[in-house]
Formats: sequence, structure tokens, C-alpha cells
Amino acid sequence: MRKKIVAGNWKMNKTMEEALILTSEVVHMVKDEVASDVIVVLGVPSIYLTTVQKYVEPVANMGVAAQNCHQKASGAYTGEISAPMLQSIGVDYVYIGHSERRQYFSETNEELAEKVNIALANGLAPIFCCGESLEQRQAGGFLEFVASQLTDSLFHLSEEDFRKVAIAYEPIWAIGTGLTASSEQAQEMHAYLRGHLASKYGQSVANDTSILYGGSCNEKNAQELFACPDVDGGLIGGASLKSREFTNIAKSF
Ligand code: 13P
Repeated sequence: MRKKIVAGNWKMNKTMEEALILTSEVVHMVKDEVASDVIVVLGVPSIYLTTVQKYVEPVANMGVAAQNCHQKASGAYTGEISAPMLQSIGVDYVYIGHSERRQYFSETNEELAEKVNIALANGLAPIFCCGESLEQRQAGGFLEFVASQLTDSLFHLSEEDFRKVAIAYEPIWAIGTGLTASSEQAQEMHAYLRGHLASKYGQSVANDTSILYGGSCNEKNAQELFACPDVDGGLIGGASLKSREFTNIAKSF
């Protein structure tokens, strides 16, 4: 059975003091209010990972995520952070292929495949992001385009490795814009992607893969989105910066 996951992506936000307040509030609320079968992940700037991990570790249904990792294990890559480093501090998940990394840091599908490999080799669970731009949606062929992102960066994986991956569909036009995909648009894409996964790995693996929706997901629209049969949770940006709203999203199943 696939997992329900609500994952926050703080992006490049919060000072240390603010990060501590947000983390401790979310941890308390999740312990008291969120169903134990919902996994709540905090995707925090890497400078805070160790600290946040200490808060989150005692809570069975919480985890911590890095927002990126380098594709090499070590070496002369000034400013970068490797998968073995993340593993060594007890990080659980890593976001790979976020559209902001693809756009601003020119990450290619080929590089992302390498990042997925090194994450898995170091015991990290990748949450692999995909999604189309507004121009691609308007031009048509967007379902096939997003499916090709999965093909190019994930379909070399063995079934055993692929089972450790979760997918996050984040239409670029919905990220940070207040324009959410409708539940029909989200369901259409998620069902298409699940079919695509089934064509490669079989229906049972596809049924077990969590596919999250991201893009202006908030406490008001989460319930309708999460009620879609192929939407298994969310990757939450702006709304993950507020403890009450983020927890309410995690309670929306
Ligand atoms: P928003 O929720 O702020 O639209 O961001 C979504 C996102 O990019 C999560 O990774």
C-alpha cells in the first residue's frame, strides 16, 4: 500500500531562530493532531538539517529532507553537499529535480538520474519532482512531457530501487503563484503518471508509489486535492512556513 506523505519545502527561508520555532510547533502539532499513517516531512535548508533532525527523530511519522544533493560522492565541488554527508547526519529524504533547481541551476534529466542513483546508494529516499510550464500546458502534450521526465531520470532503476522513490508532480505555473491545479487537472496527471509507471514496473509497483501534488497547495484546497484517488499527499512550499497551516494540510486526508 502506498504511503500518504505531506512534505514541506521551506526553500531558502527562515533564520535559525525562526526555524527552531517553526519546527517545535510543527512537531507538537503533528504528535497531537495528525493521524499516524500520514508521514510528515520537513524539507529544510541544509544548514538546519542536523538541528531539525533532532526534533523530528523521536516522532515515528516524521522525517527530514534535504532540498538537493550533489551527484558525486565527494570531491572538489565548493559549496555542494553530498548524499553520503546527508546519510551521515541521519537525513531520511532528498528532493531531486525541483523545477527551481532545473530552472535556476540548469539541472538536466541526466544529472538528476545520477542524483537519484547516489541518493539511493546512500540510503536516502528520493522525492523526485516533475512538472510542466504554462507554455507546455497550453501547447498540449504536457502529459507525455512530464512522463518523459520520469522515463529519463528514473526508468533505469531496478524495481527494488524504484520502490524507494516517491514522485511529486508540481506544475511550474502553480508554484508560488496562488494558481492551484484543479483537482481534475491533478488527478488527470497523477493517473497518467501512474499508468506510465505501470507500463515500466507493473501495476502493483505503480499502485504502491506515492505521487504527491505540489503548487499553491494550502489548508483550503488540500482536502479536495487529497481526495483524488491518485493524489497521495502534497509537496508544500509557502504554506509549510506556517505551523498551523502546514499541520492542517497534513490533517486533510
Ligand atoms: P508553493 O506551495 O509555494 O506553491 O510551492 C510549491 C513547491 O515548489 C514545493 O516544492
